[in-house]
Amino acid sequence: MNHPSTPPPAAPQLNRRTFMMSTAAGAGVAVTPHAAAAPDAPPTAHAGTQPTQVSVNGQPHALMLEPRASLLDVLREQLGLTGAKKGCDHGQCGACTVHLDGRRVASCLTLAVKADGCAVTTIEGIESADGTLHPMQQAFVDHDALQCGYCTPGQVMAAIACVREGHATSDAQIREYMSGNLCRCGAYAGILEAIREAAPQMLHREGLRHA
Ligand code: FES
Ligand code: FES
Repeated sequence: MNHPSTPPPAAPQLNRRTFMMSTAAGAGVAVTPHAAAAPDAPPTAHAGTQPTQVSVNGQPHALMLEPRASLLDVLREQLGLTGAKKGCDHGQCGACTVHLDGRRVASCLTLAVKADGCAVTTIEGIESADGTLHPMQQAFVDHDALQCGYCTPGQVMAAIACVREGHATSDAQIREYMSGNLCRCGAYAGILEAIREAAPQMLHREGLRHA
């Protein structure tokens, strides 16, 4: 029976904050009330969470994390750094590559609490303060080393590490040491050209030498 004078029940309100809280909870990330409202306030202990101090792109963060939360989920869903991508979430595609104390890691396989006391660098943290692209980013642009771009942040972070490791001295070596980063668009030729071009620029800029 219809009652025109009776207002319909109110629909549940979903704003950005409630959405983020439910999304983060579903991904196993502990988002404390403190973390959502005031990132610089002292972290609040919650049962099952662990205090973690981590520097991300030079910014210190004091977090309370569930021990099972991956570094990738914390970066993307708690810190809002969505450059690192979730491709496979199983350590097989490289889309989530970031640097942990200067070494490349698959952030989907890295527990965030293991980054306690460490420095993390993501794709958001490699350009200069004035906005100038990192030489590797610029080389990817110059050589059309991407199509959809989904794998690109991971490719760039892996490529930078590849050069610093001294593993970019030949095309064969670049292919081998970039083999953990997959590109479903098949932009491998451009990626190889980009690394080949950026390597000497990086080495000069950072004062490094190939072995
Ligand atoms: S998302 Fe981490 S390796 Fe694929
Ligand atoms: S550019 Fe599309 S997956 Fe690599």
